[in-house]
Amino acid sequence: MERRSVLWYVLVVTCCLHTIAFKGVDSATVCEYPAVYSFGDSLVDNGNSIAAFPVQFAYAEANPNGALWASHAADRMCDGTLLVDFFSFGSSLGPSYPFLRSTATMPQFGSNFGAAGATAVNQTSEWIPNSGFNTPFSLNYQLQWLRRYKVRLDYYYQQSYVNQSLPSVASLNSSLYIVQAGFQDYFFSLYEQKSTTRRLLTKVDSVVSAIGDLLKGLAQFGGANVVVVNLPPLGCFPALLTIYPASVDKYDKYGCLSSLNKISTAHNTALNSTVLTIREKYRNVTFHYGDLFSAYTDILKSPQTYNITQPLKACCGAGGS
Ligand SMILES: *[C@@H]1O[C@H](CO)[C@@H](O)[C@H](O)[C@H]1NC(C)=O
Ligand SMILES: *[C@@H]1O[C@H](CO)[C@@H](O)[C@H](O)[C@H]1NC(C)=O
Ligand SMILES: *[C@@H]1O[C@H](CO)[C@@H](O)[C@H](O)[C@H]1NC(C)=O
Ligand SMILES: *[C@@H]1O[C@H](CO)[C@@H](O)[C@H](O)[C@H]1NC(C)=O
Ligand SMILES: *[C@@H]1O[C@H](CO)[C@@H](O)[C@H](O)[C@H]1NC(C)=O
Ligand SMILES: *[C@@H]1O[C@H](CO)[C@@H](O)[C@H](O)[C@H]1NC(C)=O
Repeated sequence: MERRSVLWYVLVVTCCLHTIAFKGVDSATVCEYPAVYSFGDSLVDNGNSIAAFPVQFAYAEANPNGALWASHAADRMCDGTLLVDFFSFGSSLGPSYPFLRSTATMPQFGSNFGAAGATAVNQTSEWIPNSGFNTPFSLNYQLQWLRRYKVRLDYYYQQSYVNQSLPSVASLNSSLYIVQAGFQDYFFSLYEQKSTTRRLLTKVDSVVSAIGDLLKGLAQFGGANVVVVNLPPLGCFPALLTIYPASVDKYDKYGCLSSLNKISTAHNTALNSTVLTIREKYRNVTFHYGDLFSAYTDILKSPQTYNITQPLKACCGAGGS
């Protein structure tokens, strides 16, 4: 099996798990926001990376991506809906289209700044074009895009005629901001087999600090409602289960790789305490902590509740354990 296709399948499966896990939350809560803005990597992107690098990300439009949600899901690394899609459709009644796409969008619902292959930590001059599942659009650039977006809105509303449906400038502070980042920072080097758990554990502080910088940036920008989503258990990802076959004593009770899960646990502990600190600093902003790790673990505990038969297997017979 070609490695790139293993990646497709793992992302397909994981994003489906995410959406199912958050479904209950959505239906139980009434939440309406004028628009939704999101930030992150392949778990969030709905077309930025393929807009910037059409050849490198051409497979985002290939089967199985888009298979279960055909009119929307192409350009996502997913056959169905992403977590951010549930937030967008649930709160502002439409998708938030990718920032970099210039045609056939409906910009009234906000914008998605997430880009597949984007790290949370600042991308440096080491980035190499077409070097696999990798883009230079780290969170610091995504924040710059948001600021630029506001500049354009300001100019737009100064025109003598306004006939495009865009969010109002006043709605920016009451909109919903979603941050789901950090996955790429660990996953890519594990996938390329270029790092170890021990080395990645030393990266946790810088990854969480980069996410914290974005949260502070959003607070200073004027966002009043921010959701920050934590990391799912990396050791349960079908692609990593395939690439790192371990002896049985290295699997946990759900069949996931214990050592890789330590990365998610360390990341989430640090992220939780960073969010607590930032909450103290910006008391005018509501920071919601989206506990995806626990939602994912609930599925592993009782997959039948969620109508999932093989939670650790990628779809279409590819990868997993
Ligand atoms: C990341 O880049 C931003 C500018 O985009 C800068 O303000 C910030 O200090 C940088 N962070 C680190 C850790 O170098
Ligand atoms: C937008 O408004 C201008 C000025 O009234 C008009 O010339 C133009 O045709 C309008 N464009 C659209 C797409 O409605
Ligand atoms: C939100 O932004 C608008 C326009 O920029 C401003 O009038 C309003 O006071 C802001 N609201 C808050 C709560 O900051
Ligand atoms: C919250 O306070 C910060 C300054 O601490 C300010 O920059 C930001 O605009 C405020 N946000 C809202 C929504 O009032
Ligand atoms: C975050 O940390 C606080 C304080 O230690 C704790 O009460 C809370 O349960 C933690 N949340 C998660 C999701 O780990
Ligand atoms: C469970 O999945 C099966 C197969 O995809 C589907 O036919 C069925 O409708 C699903 N049931 C529920 C309750 O979602």
